[in-house]
Amino acid sequence: MAVPALEIKNLHAWYGESHVLHGVDLVVQPGEVVTLLGRNGAGRTTTMRAILGLTGTRKGSIKVDGHETIGLPTHRIAHFGIGYCPEERGIFASLSAEENLMLPPPIKGAGPGMSVEEIYAMFPNLAERRHSQGTRLSGGEQQMLAVARILRTGAKLLLLDEISEGLAPVIVQALARMITMLRAKGYTVLMVEQNFRFAAPLADRFYVMEHGRVVEAFAASELQAKMSVLNELLGV
Ligand SMILES: Nc1ncnc2c1ncn2[C@@H]1O[C@H](COP(=O)(O)OP(=O)(O)OP(=O)(O)O)[C@@H](O)[C@H]1O
Ligand SMILES: [Mg+2]
Repeated sequence: MAVPALEIKNLHAWYGESHVLHGVDLVVQPGEVVTLLGRNGAGRTTTMRAILGLTGTRKGSIKVDGHETIGLPTHRIAHFGIGYCPEERGIFASLSAEENLMLPPPIKGAGPGMSVEEIYAMFPNLAERRHSQGTRLSGGEQQMLAVARILRTGAKLLLLDEISEGLAPVIVQALARMITMLRAKGYTVLMVEQNFRFAAPLADRFYVMEHGRVVEAFAASELQAKMSVLNELLGV
C-alpha cells in the first residue's frame, strides 16, 4: 500500500478556548479526490485549517506523505507540497489576473508546478482576462484564479474549500471539469463541499462531519446505498 498523501488520526483542534475538532480520522491516498461533507459549522474548514496549522492548539497526528506535521509551524507544513484554496479566495483586487497568478512563490522542495502556459491552456478564460484587474473578474474567474495560483507553486495535495459556492451552474460545471482534469494529472484533492450535486460525481470517497467529528466514511460505489443516511445528515 502506498504511503497516504494525508493521514489524520485523532485530531483535536481549538480556537482559543473553543474545542472545535474532537478526534477526526481521515485518510487521503495519492491521486484520490475526497470530499468532506457536513452541515454549516460541522468543522470542515477547521479541519483544513488545522492541516495547515492555522488553528489554535492541535493534538493528534497529521501525516503528509508520511511526515508528521502536528508540531510544525504553517510555513514548514506548506513545504510538503500543500496548496490551500480558502473559502475567501484571497484575490488581490488591485493586481491583474496574471499578477495574482504569479504572486505565490514556488514551494521549495516540491516538484515543478504547472507552467503559466499549461495553466492558460487549462483555463482559457483566465488567459483572456490576464490583464484584467482582480476586481473586474467574475466570481467564477476569481475562483479559477485562486485554484490556478496554487497549481503554479508545485503543490500536489490540494485543499479546496467550497469552490463551487455562490457560482452560476455553468461555472460550477467548468470547475467540475477542472477537478476531473486535476485528478487525471495525478493531483490529490481534499475538498469541502456544500453542493452535493457538484461533489457526488467527482469524488472517489466521502467523509461526513458533524460537531467536529467524522460520522460517516464511504466510497463512491456505496453512494446510492448511503443516500438515506446522507439525507438525514445533510438534507440532500
Ligand atoms: N475563528 C474561530 N474562532 C472560534 N470558533 C470558530 C472559529 N471559526 C470557526 N469556529 C467555530 O468552529 C465550528 C466549526 O466551524 P467550521 O468553519 O470549521 O465549519 P464548516 O464545516 O466549515 O461550516 P461552514 O463553512 O458552512 O460554516 C463552528 O462552531 C464555528 O462557529
Ligand atoms: Mg467552512
